[in-house]
Amino acid sequence: AAEGKERKTGGLFPVERVRKSHLGEVDFSNLGFGKIFADHMLVADFADGSWQPAHIVPYGEFSVSPANSALHYGQSIFEGIKAYRDEDGAPLLFRPEKNYERFLKSAERLAMPPVPEDIFLSGMEQLISLDRAWIPEAEGCSLYIRPFMFATDAFLGVRPSGSYRFMIINSPAGAYYNKPVKLVVQEKYVRAFPGGTGFAKSAGNYAGSLMPALEVQRQGYDQILWIDGIQHKYLQECGTMNFFVIIGDTAVTADLDEGTILDGVTRDTVIALMHEQGLKVEERPLSIDEVLEAYRQGTLREVFGTGTAAGISYVAEMTYREHHLQFRPEAWTIAPALLQRLGDVHFGKNDPHGWCRRI
Ligand code: COI
Repeated sequence: AAEGKERKTGGLFPVERVRKSHLGEVDFSNLGFGKIFADHMLVADFADGSWQPAHIVPYGEFSVSPANSALHYGQSIFEGIKAYRDEDGAPLLFRPEKNYERFLKSAERLAMPPVPEDIFLSGMEQLISLDRAWIPEAEGCSLYIRPFMFATDAFLGVRPSGSYRFMIINSPAGAYYNKPVKLVVQEKYVRAFPGGTGFAKSAGNYAGSLMPALEVQRQGYDQILWIDGIQHKYLQECGTMNFFVIIGDTAVTADLDEGTILDGVTRDTVIALMHEQGLKVEERPLSIDEVLEAYRQGTLREVFGTGTAAGISYVAEMTYREHHLQFRPEAWTIAPALLQRLGDVHFGKNDPHGWCRRI
């Protein structure tokens, strides 16, 4: 509902600029993902029941107490948003309101205070406007924006912290996956279960996925495609991506009803773009048996993941127990068309939904 609304940009928050930008030292032809950070960051603190005004300062380290409760008990959440530049060089933010809504849901689940809209959205616009030169121009690249919030109480009792810090840092980045991925469905570990934190973008969800991911990577896979932990039957998501299959003339992705799946902004965008192209889309429980059966029947046409960092990532292989499914993305038509369409919309071309916020 917030989309399409005009919001003031400019000098809402005080800025301390870097003495010298290190932009010139960055090799924009070899960005990778998440290694390089733009000149400035936004910081806002919450204490005694209220948010202090945000400020923008040079990107850099800061100190925390060894008793910091986020370090001990994981009260920490984040978001991922991408900025591009339009043909005139103006920064474009892609659907930041949607990330803001999700951030509020994550905060609520982790017993953290809501960050005010002016700090999250107007602060982000002011920061991106200041560091606009950091938005890469090469194809497939963007400025990856990372808002996050963590507890700052120095206290070892287990209870919600009374104080928090919200920050935004920015990283010029290339592709997260640079080739089609190999997924594996395993039943040993579980990412999320009803009543848990699966829908929230909380640090702990990612921490818990690291060891299982390492285990499958040693076996030659890129990522786990998580399956539900109760029936070991329904496909959930990949942790870095939501999961889609095209069976016959219908796209299917897991629904969000159980709260075990991240409500991906790219997921939502891709669903809207599919509707736009006249494709049938079903958000519903998707079982591994249905996928195997469609593969056997020859109706499983395309398989891909979607995410802010991952974009649309084709699945080259999928393994479940003794079943090895192989795909030929080079022969696909739907996902490549979506990728093209998503690219256009990111750059503000043909954006009927008003998703791009020009700043
Ligand atoms: C994103 O797509 O922004 C993510 O958060 C996935 C991963 C980089 C953590």
